[in-house]
Amino acid sequence: MRTRLLLAIGFAGGIAAAAGGWLFAAQEPPQRSAAELMDVLMWNREPVGGPFALIDHNGTPRSDADFRGKLMLIYFGFTYCSDVCPTDLQSIAGAMDRLGLMSESVQPLFITVDPEKDRPEQLKEYVKLFHPRLIGLTGEPRQIRDLTGAYKVYYAKTEPTKPTDRGIDHTGYMYLMGRDGKYLGFFPPGTSADRMVEIIRPQLTVLSQR
Ligand code: NI
Repeated sequence: MRTRLLLAIGFAGGIAAAAGGWLFAAQEPPQRSAAELMDVLMWNREPVGGPFALIDHNGTPRSDADFRGKLMLIYFGFTYCSDVCPTDLQSIAGAMDRLGLMSESVQPLFITVDPEKDRPEQLKEYVKLFHPRLIGLTGEPRQIRDLTGAYKVYYAKTEPTKPTDRGIDHTGYMYLMGRDGKYLGFFPPGTSADRMVEIIRPQLTVLSQR
């Protein structure tokens, strides 16, 4: 289904690039629907999260293991998003500020679902708009596809509504991962910075007493 949808729409970038994408996509299982993935998260039906080996906004390789010992606050989106991404990234930044010194034990990560467009230099310009501690991550489309599968993130290309629109739909959950890298839970889109702090702070307190 998804492959056919992509075929119908195509990239603005050109038919040659698109053709490569279709061949690639054709070998992969169809993506699950947004509703199904939301259901999985809501009722905790399947494990969430998993290892990654990506490139950060400075071009440095980064893996999940680099952040052991810290909580990870992970958001999947793309830099051209004019919808929920900026709002939720502002909330993440606000939570970091409110946590003060405790925020040193939290690593916010922005992982692109548009790796073809969001190369490190693009991410670098973007993440600095939000917070100095925010790390942007990108990789090969296949890596991103696998990782979004592990995190039950839905994203799909759609018909752009305006020229500046990249036309990507995506779920906007923010994932909180423990110091051991394991999934703790998610924040729905639109969660305020204060609410995030309410949830994150006890995690840091408990862990620091161990
Ligand atoms: Ni977005």
